[in-house]
Amino acid sequence: MQICRSTQDMRDWRKGTDRVALVPTMGALHAGHLALVARARDWLDEQGGGRIVTSIFVNPTQFSPTEDLDRYPRSEAQDLALLRDAGCDAVFLPQVPDIYRPGAQTHVEVTGLGRILMGRLRPGHFRGVATVVTKLFNIVQPQAAAFGEKDYQQLTLIRQMVADLDIPVQILPVATVRDADGLAMSSRNQRLTPDDRTAAPVLARALDQAALSASTGTPVSLLRRQIRTILASEPRATLRAIDICDAGDLSRIATVTRPVVILLAVAFGDVLLIDQRVVHP
Ligand code: PAJ
Repeated sequence: MQICRSTQDMRDWRKGTDRVALVPTMGALHAGHLALVARARDWLDEQGGGRIVTSIFVNPTQFSPTEDLDRYPRSEAQDLALLRDAGCDAVFLPQVPDIYRPGAQTHVEVTGLGRILMGRLRPGHFRGVATVVTKLFNIVQPQAAAFGEKDYQQLTLIRQMVADLDIPVQILPVATVRDADGLAMSSRNQRLTPDDRTAAPVLARALDQAALSASTGTPVSLLRRQIRTILASEPRATLRAIDICDAGDLSRIATVTRPVVILLAVAFGDVLLIDQRVVHP
């Protein structure tokens, strides 16, 4: 497995490779990230072979000054061991000044999808994501890239960006990988206290219940009430947002008539967890 610590190293390695699938991450890898690596491998096999590049870069521009950039978990040695076992071919581990050079003036912003939902809770977040993903695409030049449905708005926004800017990268969506009790795997789960970790599967329970009661004609307000009630049964959970939207473009809807996505953001102490469920009525 090749380790590229600079943009130049990455570009040099890329020259010797035909087909590449990219898995962009911020490290602290878990089975969710490894499912993206497996999806990348399946896609390459379908195409007749190629190499997987995983990027590990804790992207400062997607964190606000009050967010957890400094406390974001880092575990490089373990990440590299996991990626080697998963059959990854190269890892791109750039330093911040290599990606954000002094004097840069350009960013990428998806103006609609980037400002709604989580984009309202985290102003600037999706601009940071869109910019770094564009830069990773330009440096690694993959033919495909895998993104998790767990970050559903991020996945939708990347699809929009790739279409809007004619970026020749196929986006591979990957279903959310969960712990046995239903909690969506996340690097942030490590920061939960033991009591909060025990309480956290309430997100998945609330989504399960809403998915069960959603059928054609169900008012969104009813689903919202159900989710609130289930979350209220867990005093450690602080609801930050419930959004029920068209699963394709994330537009607001009042009644379930077509596939919808339920997006949930819940805080446990200072750890914000998100989860989602797509419901086909
Ligand atoms: P990160 O949070 O490290 O996630 C990297 C990728 O793994 C994302 O596409 C995310 O949706 C996916 N992922 C995380 N948990 C998952 C799970 N439990 N099941 C399936 N997939 C999961 O998302 C980012 O990093 C950054 O915003 C990034 C795209 C790398 C840009 O900086």
